[in-house]
Amino acid sequence: MTLALGPVRIAHPLAQAALSGYSDAPMRRVARRHGAAYALAEVLIDRFAVEGRSRSFVRRHLHLEDDDHPVGGQLMGSDPEQFTVAARRLVEAGFDVIDVNFGCPSRSAVGGCRGGYHLGQPAQALEILARVRDAVPSGVPVTVKMRRGLDDSAASRDRCLEILAGAFERGLAAATLHGRTVAQGYVGPSRWAFLREARAAFPGRTLLGSGDLFTARDCVRMLAETGVDGLSVARGAIGNPWIFSSAAALLRGEPHPAPPRVHAQRAVIAEHLALARTAHGDDACAPPLRKHLVKYARLHPDHATVRSAFGKVLRVADVEAVLALHYADDRDGTWGDAVEAEPQAATA
Ligand SMILES: Cc1cc2nc3c(=O)[nH]c(=O)nc-3n(C[C@H](O)[C@H](O)[C@H](O)COP(=O)(O)O)c2cc1C
Repeated sequence: MTLALGPVRIAHPLAQAALSGYSDAPMRRVARRHGAAYALAEVLIDRFAVEGRSRSFVRRHLHLEDDDHPVGGQLMGSDPEQFTVAARRLVEAGFDVIDVNFGCPSRSAVGGCRGGYHLGQPAQALEILARVRDAVPSGVPVTVKMRRGLDDSAASRDRCLEILAGAFERGLAAATLHGRTVAQGYVGPSRWAFLREARAAFPGRTLLGSGDLFTARDCVRMLAETGVDGLSVARGAIGNPWIFSSAAALLRGEPHPAPPRVHAQRAVIAEHLALARTAHGDDACAPPLRKHLVKYARLHPDHATVRSAFGKVLRVADVEAVLALHYADDRDGTWGDAVEAEPQAATA
């Protein structure tokens, strides 16, 4: 089952979602090594994408390694012209896909007429999509990320479907749909029924689903229940890149894999640390890595202790000390809340 983003073919449906503050090159590369076939970078505000020249900006947001493809660069903004310049810069940097963010619900995004704000004004939203599509080479697919509307009103849902239809008419290759509204933020369930509805309305178009993919079984269930072509795994992949390999196993009809043992966890955390050191430098890499590390701790048999230890790391040496102290014995891991209980066989 491949995923087609225009001319870019993705080997299978599992993708690492764009996650601001998280989906930098190290996270994407770890996700890929566990089976994510496509990954998106953190969203960039168009103006920063145009003007950002500092060494740290370029290293964090524009530098791509050979093993980090296909990769999507994501933009949000308010001015169609600025979007086009930013999109061309991302293409020059080597991004394979340009994704336009019409989903971000943060107060600063919506207040600044960016992200989810555009779901309320289809005409300008479609102008942005058309301008970006025209601005980048035809071989580079343009895609859009949307929530199911600004709020729960029928008018909001209709505007969302209007933008989606217009996006495909203007040559966009795919849409990622998050089943929450902008007003909802991250509270409450993602309504997968909206994905099903969009699937029925746009047969033959590439749709990725997003929202509440916390376990490998959630991934299998979303594919089966909604008919989307691909899955954009977000919070469920933080500290658990094994969600990709586990979901792939389930999709092949195999049982859910056992949790990685402590030494296997240590190897992946050490790899993530090494990638972060290369990407961000020894002095700067540990504090931003902390939020990944506390999530990795969920899979450790002493998760509360390890979580607390990772929560205090300030330097590379502190991370190494936690690994040396708590990951020395190769004990069984645990999925914690990163896996659901095996469905029970029905009893007579
Ligand atoms: C911390 C955080 C940062 C996010 N950053 C982005 C982003 O940069 N671009 C984007 O399209 N979505 C972003 N999202 C939304 C996710 O990609 C995803 O659509 C959302 O979390 C729903 O999926 P989930 O319930 O499985 O986490 C972010 C979400 C979170 C929690």
